[in-house]
Amino acid sequence: MSDTVLSLQDREEIEKRRTFAIISHPDAGKTTLTEKLLLYGGAIVEAGMVKGKKNMRHAVSDWMEIEKQRGISVTSSVMQFRYDGFCINILDTPGHQDFSEDTYRTLMAADSAVMVIDGSKGVEAQTRKLFKVCRMRGIPIFTFINKMDREAKDSFDLMSEIETELGIETCPINWPIGSGKRFQGVYDREKQRMLKFAATGGAHEVASVEMALDDPGLGDLIGEEARDQLLEEMELLDGAGHPLDLDMVRKGELSPVFFGSALTNFGVEPFLEEFLRMTTSPLPRQCVEGVVEPASADFSAFVFKIQANMNRAHRDRVAFMRICSGVFEKGMEVYHVQQGKKIKISQPTQLMAQDRSIVDKAWAGDIISVFDPGIFSIGDTICSSSNRVKFEGIPTFAPEHFCRLRQVDTLKRKQFIKGTTEIAQEGAIQIFVEPNKGMEEVIVGVVGTLQFDVLTHRLVNEYNIETRMESLPYEHIRWVENKDLDMSALTLTSDTKVVQDMKGNYLLLFADEWNIDWALSHNKGLKLAEFSRN
Ligand code: G4P
Repeated sequence: MSDTVLSLQDREEIEKRRTFAIISHPDAGKTTLTEKLLLYGGAIVEAGMVKGKKNMRHAVSDWMEIEKQRGISVTSSVMQFRYDGFCINILDTPGHQDFSEDTYRTLMAADSAVMVIDGSKGVEAQTRKLFKVCRMRGIPIFTFINKMDREAKDSFDLMSEIETELGIETCPINWPIGSGKRFQGVYDREKQRMLKFAATGGAHEVASVEMALDDPGLGDLIGEEARDQLLEEMELLDGAGHPLDLDMVRKGELSPVFFGSALTNFGVEPFLEEFLRMTTSPLPRQCVEGVVEPASADFSAFVFKIQANMNRAHRDRVAFMRICSGVFEKGMEVYHVQQGKKIKISQPTQLMAQDRSIVDKAWAGDIISVFDPGIFSIGDTICSSSNRVKFEGIPTFAPEHFCRLRQVDTLKRKQFIKGTTEIAQEGAIQIFVEPNKGMEEVIVGVVGTLQFDVLTHRLVNEYNIETRMESLPYEHIRWVENKDLDMSALTLTSDTKVVQDMKGNYLLLFADEWNIDWALSHNKGLKLAEFSRN
């Protein structure tokens, strides 16, 4: 590993970076919160009034056609803005559980995560699933309890729900005074400051009144009853609550909790400020050779996302890279580890949803997107030629739903192969073929069934291919680890299918666990793996 470090100026730029992902159950307010954060950074001038998502304008981060139609986020987008001397990279993630693999890949590029919870609903099904994915990464998780302007669950109940259901300690940074019609604002525990809620119709500022708990004016401000309740709750929290321990936060063991209302723009700025104070600049990353320091003079990055046809007019394919160390400069020659080739990245861009701007320089912590002529795969490492490193790959989730996909118009064979292969390279689906059969039909495997809808929709819209889909009864997949095995000699049940992935590896699809046991017990020496090791 190289020990050369960057100039002071470049190191300061890296110090300013905060790269995080936002996760939530659909409708909890992730898009609204993202927009308000972007407003503070001046990245957008007017919020896209998420309310109109279904019929009017669309939120800046929801750009794909299918997202607009269904009102859900199916792919993640990346946005950058500056605020108070920080340079913030927000990674939006799909809320729907069927896309949790995409969320996992996005989290690989993030240093922390913000979990948005609807105060009236608490921990929801997808919160649980996305949180699990977050925990796999072991990154700090901040909680924003949203929609306090609506009747919310009891705040203590919300805390214990997060703790028991998600298995993470919580530490409220501020505490709400009422909710819904009786929502008066939040009390900042550390600054001993009351933030008074006033329905300002989405304006930037909310009334902030510095007031300690023992200030005699507090009763006048929020009413005697609310004051008594706040005093009681603060006493309880101070006595029995978990103290703020930044070490635990950074290990992902304790989640700082904030209450607010993204729609009415209440509590968003204090949240942003505290969040920036508590999170760290880009952290060292593990690679095969050891640890890569962000401030190292050697550039390194990895591809965490590939997206074809982001811009229909250009019909291009884009690879998203998270820079892990050093500085990237436009036109720089880099080494693509998996291809074993030097490449030049001439048009790197940074994204603001659909709008791209060319970047001249980017630092560790940043996300850049580069035009991909079909050379990148998810998990690939790009680094300085002089000091080569390799990041560990991003694991693929085992698909649980399978279908057979055929093109309707057999003359469009080429487009069918191109479409299915490109979408598979993005990691949105996995495709398999039956041995000795061509690619006129493929077997598609997905983690969530909504991915089938996205696939057929995209094949029509982006590749002009009508397809017919037939669902298959398989639920489990195993890679055959034995090399040079005569697959036709295997003894298998009629509920088991032999397929090959695009690299030619053999796999078995099973209808249930029983069939897996059967295959193992009837074929001595057969070795099956749950994940592809390639
Ligand atoms: P998501 O990205 O997590 O899916 O949620 P999104 O921001 O799209 O918000 C979902 C709905 O919740 C939106 O209403 C949005 O206006 C509303 N919302 C977000 N934050 C708040 C908040 O702080 N308070 C209140 N009262 N509402 C909030 P919508 O598009 O009209 O959808 P719906 O209400 O018809 O479901």
